Amino acid sequence: MRTPLIAGNWKMNGSRELIEHFGRQVTSDALPGGVSAALMVPFPYLEAANKAFKAGPLVVGAQTLSDQPSGAFTGEVSGNMLAELGAQYVLVGHSERRALFHEDDTAVLARVRAALAAGLVPMLCLGETLEEREAERTEAVVLGQLEAVLDALEADQRQRLVIAYEPVWAIGTGRTASPEQAQAVHEVIRARLARYSAPLAEGMQLLYGGSMKASNAAELLAQPDIDGGLVGGASLKVDDFLAICQSAG
Ligand code: G3P
Repeated sequence: MRTPLIAGNWKMNGSRELIEHFGRQVTSDALPGGVSAALMVPFPYLEAANKAFKAGPLVVGAQTLSDQPSGAFTGEVSGNMLAELGAQYVLVGHSERRALFHEDDTAVLARVRAALAAGLVPMLCLGETLEEREAERTEAVVLGQLEAVLDALEADQRQRLVIAYEPVWAIGTGRTASPEQAQAVHEVIRARLARYSAPLAEGMQLLYGGSMKASNAAELLAQPDIDGGLVGGASLKVDDFLAICQSAG
């Protein structure tokens, strides 16, 4: 049985005040039993989040990391530093990192390796662009991104991942994938995971991201292969975030 997971991705937004607000509002009794919740906050807020969320159920995550453990890489942040600040998850391969910061599959794999080496849970993000979907290349693109990482990992490393399917055309657009569209891709991902190992496929949390809102979360999360959400805009409002968590229960 896979634990439902709702992860918020604040991107380059938020404040210490909002961290404190989430710490006060997201209490254990605010979440349905059996639902896990995480918040990927910008680097400067990691320590404050770890402190503010300590007494509650919210788990802290980061949004990227260096592929190096230390060294002369000005401006970079290592997985060990994230772990020291209390991060448990780290996004890897988010479409904005791939598009805006030119992270290709090789760079994504290197960051997954760095996250695993630091004891973090890599949340591997996959997704196609609108052009790729309209060209009927969704499966090829998503499985290509998946295999570029999982083919290179050992079996025990694969088990430590979480996967997020985020159609690029649904991110920040308000144009959410339909439950059927999202389920179809999640089903393809899970079937591909089964070729590595049946237990890996059965146990992998597959999250959907891309304009998930309080209004559409329930129908998305009702799909058999959607185990949670990776939520952008709606994770900046605690009531919306909690409503989505309620839908996962
Ligand atoms: O990582 C989650 C994000 O890409 C989705 O953003 O605003 O469409 O929920 P949003």
